[in-house]
Amino acid sequence: MTKKRLGVLTSGGDCPGLNAAIRAVVSHAKLSYGWDVLGIPYGTQGLMERQPAVELTAHGLHLRGIDPLLSMGGTILGSINKGDTIANTDKILAGCEALGLDAIVAIGGDGSLSILADLAKRGGWKLIGIPKTIDNDVGLTERAIGFDTAVNTVVDALQKLSSTAASHDRVMVVETMGRTAGHLALNSGIAGGADVILIPEVPYTVEGICNKIHELHDTWKQNFALVVVAEGAKTLSGESRKYTDPQGNSRLRGIGDYVADSLSQCMNNRVEVRVTVLGHVQRGGMPSALDRILASSFGRAAVDLVAAGESGRVVVWRNGDVDSVSIEELCASSPRLVNPYSGLLKTAQAIGSYVGEIDHISA
Ligand code: F6P
Repeated sequence: MTKKRLGVLTSGGDCPGLNAAIRAVVSHAKLSYGWDVLGIPYGTQGLMERQPAVELTAHGLHLRGIDPLLSMGGTILGSINKGDTIANTDKILAGCEALGLDAIVAIGGDGSLSILADLAKRGGWKLIGIPKTIDNDVGLTERAIGFDTAVNTVVDALQKLSSTAASHDRVMVVETMGRTAGHLALNSGIAGGADVILIPEVPYTVEGICNKIHELHDTWKQNFALVVVAEGAKTLSGESRKYTDPQGNSRLRGIGDYVADSLSQCMNNRVEVRVTVLGHVQRGGMPSALDRILASSFGRAAVDLVAAGESGRVVVWRNGDVDSVSIEELCASSPRLVNPYSGLLKTAQAIGSYVGEIDHISA
């Protein structure tokens, strides 16, 4: 097999496990196939601006045999979550052409992968994708890099908040990320013992939350409660909390405060309510063991797809192993939302959480 020159980039919001994936791509490409690997800084922006690509060695930033990439959060390549790729298509394609790459492995969410797939078609690039996002909403894959670590971060916060909630007889409202998907809130709510779990896929009522808090008090003599609310959660009338940022983009923000204020009102201010917005803490930290395994497996499989001459495919996780699907198919199935009739929601309900007004969802 002729020696290849492989590019690797990260795109979209960062998450734990990106560096572990980069490490796997570089190690496998260099050690198993003897290829050169170039790290493309800041994804399409780096290509557009012709930022110098970095020659990556088999052991990442290895120093005296110490290889920190497996456990390091963020991405050594940098990433962007914005930018007008359509207006800059020609510059991006020219920047890529100048690198003389045989193929690119792109680690990104469905938004980035769809943009890159389009560029790949125009530029004739060979492209293989690796899914990442703490939202876990990429279609056709059971898991994306970063999700497991984010769940653990939220669970850790819930654990810590439960003791102070119990000490002060307070209701703690914890706002999680996730955009339009509730996977992060639902999984961490179950694992962290939340009494209320509000996700975008199931509308909630403030009365429903209040009833739960009364029930906890009357039946179990529990004077505190943990409420997990996903940033995209909606009321029965379809209301979510949004604002427009200085760049004119509509963003989700403020649901934690809204739920807390509504709850205080509904309970005639008889209960103290506090809010914790976890924000970008959920995107930081060392990747969990599961995310490291996923990232390593994805990185290995992506390189093998390049070696097999494949293009336009994304590695995915199914039934405990890596598989691959076409990028188009994957993007068409994204975002993958929580199925309101799924076993996980039933589990949350069965172990005592209020999860919204499931009966109001049309089948
Ligand atoms: O998609 C990942 C995510 O962390 C979302 O959960 C969140 O809404 C968004 O990115 C935040 O993006 P930014 O980094 O642009 O604030």
